[in-house]
Amino acid sequence: MKYFKLNNNTTIPAIGFGVFLIPNNGPTYDATLAALKAGYRHIDTAAGYMNESDVGKAIKDSGIDRQKIYITSKLWLQDYGYENAKKGIDTSLKLLGVDYIDLYLLHQPYGDYLGAWKALEEAVEEGKIKSIGISNITVNLWHKFKDGMTIKPVVNQVEFNPFTQQKELRKVMAENDIRLEAWYPLGHGNKDLLENATILHLAEKYHKNAGQIILRWIYQEGVISLPKSTNPERMKGNIEIFDFELTQEDMLMIQALDTGKATHNPEDPVNETRLMALKIHD
Ligand SMILES: NC(=O)c1ccc[n+]([C@@H]2O[C@H](COP(=O)([O-])OP(=O)(O)OC[C@H]3O[C@@H](n4cnc5c(N)ncnc54)[C@H](OP(=O)(O)O)[C@@H]3O)[C@@H](O)[C@H]2O)c1
Repeated sequence: MKYFKLNNNTTIPAIGFGVFLIPNNGPTYDATLAALKAGYRHIDTAAGYMNESDVGKAIKDSGIDRQKIYITSKLWLQDYGYENAKKGIDTSLKLLGVDYIDLYLLHQPYGDYLGAWKALEEAVEEGKIKSIGISNITVNLWHKFKDGMTIKPVVNQVEFNPFTQQKELRKVMAENDIRLEAWYPLGHGNKDLLENATILHLAEKYHKNAGQIILRWIYQEGVISLPKSTNPERMKGNIEIFDFELTQEDMLMIQALDTGKATHNPEDPVNETRLMALKIHD
């Protein structure tokens, strides 16, 4: 596994295993354990995925040192605001069964965002969280929140893949030394992306599959990716990307696939209303 450096001088595995939409009480446990056996050392979960306890159990049962595994989790909107966020952090620690979380993100950019951020900053001081970050933050939202933050986020986790390259956002994040993390790195299984002629051409050239070409491109762009697979072969293959290198020309060919569009727009008020209504506990 390769690592990237973050703005607080910590390092993060360049690829994490995403467990979004994998159910708790078994499937997430099995998938996380399989991922750790395959060589992943970074698991991306969230309070909102409601599978933190399976992730924690699998990490314990893997027999791998806790310190060698990088855990990301995220606070859900229902737990925003300073007081609620403090409780939300403790709940994540308890469900994961750990005494610190490597990276904790504010999952969505709504509600009492800065109150929640203050609780995350305090948790860093208390040693409960090593690094804190943001997710689904657009350029406009960054300008709205940045002055209320004392600790600078280490990452911004957003939709990112060859069709959704977030060029403007990347520029602003780079100026602030905030690394991008890619959710939907494989387009959530989008066939148009996985069967794109340029991607398939490069797959043939390097004797790799489409997923590996995309994940290698993301890595060479300096972006952390979080591919999800419950298929053991694909799970293993998705981290076998460090034995070849795309040329500058190949990189440009993939850069040319950008549509400038995303499937999710965090600034759409419909998304705000829908996500604010999503409850994960009483
Ligand atoms: N912060 C946020 O708001 C946010 C939002 C969405 C996601 N995320 C994070 O990002 C992670 C990834 O998102 P995602 O799981 O939806 O999208 P993804 O990783 O882009 O795509 C996963 C889909 O692609 C398939 N797949 C995996 N590897 C493949 C390969 N090599 N070739 C062809 N198909 C492949 C998987 O099927 P199989 O399982 O059958 O292989 C699955 O259907 C999530 O698990 C989560 O951790 C964060």
